Amino acid sequence: MTEATTPKHHVTLIPGDGIGPEISRAVQRILSAANVHIGWEEMPMRADVERKGGNYLTDFIFPSIEKNRVALKGPLATAVVTGAPSLNVAIRQHLELFANLRPVKNLEGVSSVFKNVDIVIVRENTEDLYAGLEHIVVPGVVESLKIITEKASTRIAEFAFDYAVKFGRKKIHGIHKANIMKLSDGLFLTSIRKVATRFPQVEYKELIIDNACMQLVLDPHQFDVLLLTNLYGDIMSDLAAGLVGGLGVVPSGNIGKDAAVFEAVHGTAPDIAGKDMANPTALLMSAIMMLDHLGEDRAARNIEAALRDIYVAGQPLTRDVGGKSSTSEFTDAVIARMHSQ
Ligand code: NAI
Repeated sequence: MTEATTPKHHVTLIPGDGIGPEISRAVQRILSAANVHIGWEEMPMRADVERKGGNYLTDFIFPSIEKNRVALKGPLATAVVTGAPSLNVAIRQHLELFANLRPVKNLEGVSSVFKNVDIVIVRENTEDLYAGLEHIVVPGVVESLKIITEKASTRIAEFAFDYAVKFGRKKIHGIHKANIMKLSDGLFLTSIRKVATRFPQVEYKELIIDNACMQLVLDPHQFDVLLLTNLYGDIMSDLAAGLVGGLGVVPSGNIGKDAAVFEAVHGTAPDIAGKDMANPTALLMSAIMMLDHLGEDRAARNIEAALRDIYVAGQPLTRDVGGKSSTSEFTDAVIARMHSQ
């Protein structure tokens, strides 16, 4: 193998369901055009594995990510009400990807309610109501357990403050409902407060979740970093995405001590799957986060610049953002733009 073809990084690729394979292929093409030498370990399609009686997570996903430590992931479908538990949640819990990091920023050229939004959402990713501990107490009564531990709350608070210091963020808001859930959200808050005392250079404030939602849609510019438990973080991060144009233009990373999984936050879009209509932007932006994580800053900035130029020019764009182009045409344009830089 020549030096030019030797992969510098080994990354697990989970194509995902629905539009996942199309947008994954688009992102792979763009990263390859940016000259990032990634050895992709591509996972088989989940449906094929399950049809043959295999276990997608334990046979493929977990061993691959434990080995490569970095993954790029397309969306995976989860049935509502009935059916198997979410694979997305299982991946985060099993690999202890305890921090869900979602930078929410305007992408120039994308129409949005607000401009100049620049917020980072740090969401605890392993516990809370997502522990999935539910049972029927008696018919007609169901109990769902909200698990909050000092260990996980302290760990996510340390992550948020370290992140703030590293990336020059000035202010963190701890978001809670400790006026009602005095024990669970109370423990989350007291754990953050202890960590905050070790970071006097970062301003620390608290807001009750309902007020925080209203404040966010009234004036997002007052916020810098938001620190939340799992469920509140899930809801508020989609709310924040709505301020800058929606889920199609927001990336995310699930970060742990030993591994990191980068994924778009939208779902499998079954209504447009297989039609060459999907917008790969969110997965591409997640891949840019992944490149930063891998230390590939130059390629990350090149792709970012090409993406911005296309959105500013307003074409070619996919239908979800007001254009008429296909996934392939958009992908070709990003690559052509990078080559002309
Ligand atoms: P969705 O995000 O798949 O679709 C909502 C709407 O947005 C649809 O009209 C869809 O066509 C559009 N859309 C989404 N992504 C798009 C893209 N990249 N380009 C163009 N249009 C796009 O949300 P929905 O319908 O609630 O969920 C479908 C499935 O996805 C469910 O099984 C759900 O569990 C799963 N899901 C998986 C996630 C993950 O893997 N992280 C996250 C969210 C949902």
